[in-house]
Amino acid sequence: MLYPQTNPFRQSFDLSGIWEFQFDPDDCGRTSWMNGLPAPRPLAVPASWNEQLVDARDNLGPAWYQTRFRLPWGWYGQHIRLRFGSVNYLADVWLNGEWLGWHEGGHLPFEFDVTTRVRDDNNLLVVRVDGNLMANRVPPGNVPLDPQHSFGVARYPATNFDFFPYCGIHRPVMLYTLPPYGIDDITVITEIEGTTGIVRARVPKPDDVTLRATVRGNNVVVTSETASADIVLPIPHAHVWSPTTPNLYDLIIELVRAGVVYDRYTLPIGIRTIRVDGSALLLNDTPIVLRGFGRHEDFPIVGRGMLSAVTIKDYELMRWVGANSFRTSHYPYSEQMLDLADRLGFLVIDETPAVGLFFAEDGLAKRFALCQQYVREMIARDKNHPSVIAWSLANEPHAHDPTAVSFFRVLYDLAKSLDPTRPVTLASHLDANNGSFGFLDLLCLNRYNGWKSETAQLDLGCQVLTRELDEVYARYHKPIIITEFGAEALPGCHAEPPAMFSEEYQAETIARVIQVLNSKPYVVGQHVWCLCDFKTSQEVRRVGGINHKGVFTRERQPKLAAHRLRALWRNDALT
Ligand code: GCU
Repeated sequence: MLYPQTNPFRQSFDLSGIWEFQFDPDDCGRTSWMNGLPAPRPLAVPASWNEQLVDARDNLGPAWYQTRFRLPWGWYGQHIRLRFGSVNYLADVWLNGEWLGWHEGGHLPFEFDVTTRVRDDNNLLVVRVDGNLMANRVPPGNVPLDPQHSFGVARYPATNFDFFPYCGIHRPVMLYTLPPYGIDDITVITEIEGTTGIVRARVPKPDDVTLRATVRGNNVVVTSETASADIVLPIPHAHVWSPTTPNLYDLIIELVRAGVVYDRYTLPIGIRTIRVDGSALLLNDTPIVLRGFGRHEDFPIVGRGMLSAVTIKDYELMRWVGANSFRTSHYPYSEQMLDLADRLGFLVIDETPAVGLFFAEDGLAKRFALCQQYVREMIARDKNHPSVIAWSLANEPHAHDPTAVSFFRVLYDLAKSLDPTRPVTLASHLDANNGSFGFLDLLCLNRYNGWKSETAQLDLGCQVLTRELDEVYARYHKPIIITEFGAEALPGCHAEPPAMFSEEYQAETIARVIQVLNSKPYVVGQHVWCLCDFKTSQEVRRVGGINHKGVFTRERQPKLAAHRLRALWRNDALT
């Protein structure tokens, strides 16, 4: 799904700002609230509602939003779509009292054609949001505390995952115009032959329309035209994309009817290849090692809402430490985050919102359908980013169950059919007997040696990790990325000798694990859990409702571990 843009053929209009809001504790709003909320109060969009309002932290809805708008001058009568970047979790949308439809699942965009429903002036947009936790939702909540369903940790709110279940309209809501029969989708694949970059683009279009494509940038302009939906552009002496040279070109797609251009879309692209070869991960046929983090879209007051300054700050912190990569744990991040990854040269493992999955019968069919929907929506949205080098199907599924293997096989095949170019993986806390490891292209392991296992015994933890890595590699002969490792540190807590929860213990754990990982040539990635402290549901392990495994605090200040990492990673050449 293409992001709205403004050019002579298209315009976009951001509805972000102060909207009106009302909780619906008796769930009675469907009777009439689509025509206007009876007693609303102001609320910022985009942002979660949980921290903006003093009485709403643990309230997961349902709740209603409304805003009024008039169309920009000259828009009335054009083709117009209404696009939501992310609403968590379930959204129902009405325009001028008419129901447009619904979307399930946060973190991924959805849109409606409102051409025949929007007025020139005095439009009322109403959204009902339900963020309640249920066993048949993904990610799930309110599940039994037994090993078949969960890690057995009692939490409030009862998430089956370790981050706060923030609710609301989390990313921009936009209106945009586009020409009839305009450009609706672009799929780009790049290859490299010697010094020539090959750009292949597929653009669905009407038969009587000519497709014109231009690649511009790095001192070249290459144009081609075709009557078909597929076009190939060879770029001589291509400047390839990599973390150290994040060269981008503009791919300008135009649709031409009877010699007249009637639509245009400009997509930044990077010429690069990515593939697994034996125990290596090759970017442009050169082995790469990922250094970086898991993180969360999380910040005080805005919750999971997109805040551009925080996006920039997190990139600054990652660069300061010497990272070249991150995983979108545990859901696809904003388009803004990925655009910047392309531009700044970060390698991204893009993960679906499938966290806390379990395979007991209750709600399984629904969870399975949702996971397939998420794979489709994530790939449709993110397939053209050079920064995205792998798809992650899930995080830490409770996958002892044999059903899990066929479940993930279907998701893996689906991802491969939608995008044959990128490796597909999932992040697992399970051992080598995990049946999915046999078909995944690369193995992502979450490991907490010295913390959750071999607690407080780092020497032993490193021995166990060393042995386990060798065993997994001997069995599967696939590259391994450690997608989580680390320890909790309360900022300002110090201990010598290092003790759990001190900044020293966290720094030591991370440094010792990295030493192990650096000694294994088949380990192609090290992602510390995590970049910054983040808010969670309340539970006995989470002091103040915060996960303190960040190497930076939630306010983005460094702990000892951040300095230690910087010394380790900045001394190495980043590939
Ligand atoms: C898991 C999980 C994370 C979680 C982490 C932790 O491995 O993937 O979401 O936050 O453990 O316990 O800190």
